[in-house]
Amino acid sequence: MIRPEELLYLDNNATTAIDPAVLESMRPFLEEFFANPSSGYGFAAQVREAIEEARQQVADLLGCEAREIIFTSGGTESNNTAFYSALEAAPDRRHVVTTAVEHSAVLRPAKDLENRGYAVTFLAVDKAGQLNLNKLADAIRPDTTLLSVMWANNETGVIFPIEKVAAIAREKKVPFHTDAVQAAGKIEIKLGDVPLQFLSISGHKLHGPKGVGALYVNRLARFRPLLRGGSHENNRRAGTENTASIIGLGKAAEIARAKMRDEQGRVRKMRDRFEQCLLERISGARINGAGADRLPNTSSIMFDGIESGAALLMLDQRNVCCSAGSACRTGSLKPSHVLSAMGLLGDEARGSLRFSFGRFNTNAEVDRAVKIVPEVITKLRALSPALAN
Ligand SMILES: Cc1ncc(COP(=O)(O)O)c(C=O)c1O
Repeated sequence: MIRPEELLYLDNNATTAIDPAVLESMRPFLEEFFANPSSGYGFAAQVREAIEEARQQVADLLGCEAREIIFTSGGTESNNTAFYSALEAAPDRRHVVTTAVEHSAVLRPAKDLENRGYAVTFLAVDKAGQLNLNKLADAIRPDTTLLSVMWANNETGVIFPIEKVAAIAREKKVPFHTDAVQAAGKIEIKLGDVPLQFLSISGHKLHGPKGVGALYVNRLARFRPLLRGGSHENNRRAGTENTASIIGLGKAAEIARAKMRDEQGRVRKMRDRFEQCLLERISGARINGAGADRLPNTSSIMFDGIESGAALLMLDQRNVCCSAGSACRTGSLKPSHVLSAMGLLGDEARGSLRFSFGRFNTNAEVDRAVKIVPEVITKLRALSPALAN
């Protein structure tokens, strides 16, 4: 067993540690307040009220109305629901626009649509991972049923100009969904100022529990539920509510909102120092997405002459947790689709590692990381000619 104090957890885009205050908020709903929120007695009403408070907390984080929040099982379900809803609401429109760098929880539903005869446009990005908004506008057709563009990229942290994308979608009268799973809690989201129809978030990326998330549905948007059954969530998502996790998500949203300013600054300082030290200490290293607006916590770095799988193994031996691209890709030999879309060659993409910082990282951990990572890269580079023989 690795003791927590030995662990160097730099993989906060994969998941985050639950905040102790979140855990405490959940506990009563796993112990005493176990009622089914749909039941008719007062004991259940208490649980319903707590769920409504959580809905308000999530709405406050996003700057929208509580009635625009539907609780789901996570980012994946939220994304799938947005797709399904938009498609069902306009069945004769057969074209979808998204980007080449989305998380698989958007890419896979989009590719599935292609197999079902839809036309799907996957927008390219430039070397810094940025979108060309003119091309985005040109890609929208009269039969486009949905535009789906992530708020921030999970691998590189590159932030897309969602306000501008939303303005284009509005002008073209196309429903717009954004996967904000990596953005929520890390950067400000003010839905009052952004005209979009659907937005996805996930509890476990903001120090909340896993297996819970939310979908924002603009109160004026046409909506069709993905899961049908009981009348939960105002007939928009059937299934007995995952009460404790919903309460936890609400608390996590409240904390993220309260701490956002301070945390952004603190985390950005750690991330920037980490990058600066590595670039100074390791030759042939480059930041993927440098030059673009990036999340304050994410660092995707390409190291010449290494293979990320081997690097991850060695880092794991030193109790460093990070990833090659997204956690979902662990074990895959294929280079990251995000880095490939940014024009990295196979070897460059395969030589990239993602480090992502969070609330519970400390400066002392950055000190350790900037010692260990160069040692590992140097060792790997020394080994690689031998491996090639
Ligand atoms: C950008 C993005 N979208 C969606 C998801 C999926 O969220 P969940 O794990 O809650 O299904 C993730 C998780 O890695 C993500 O990073």
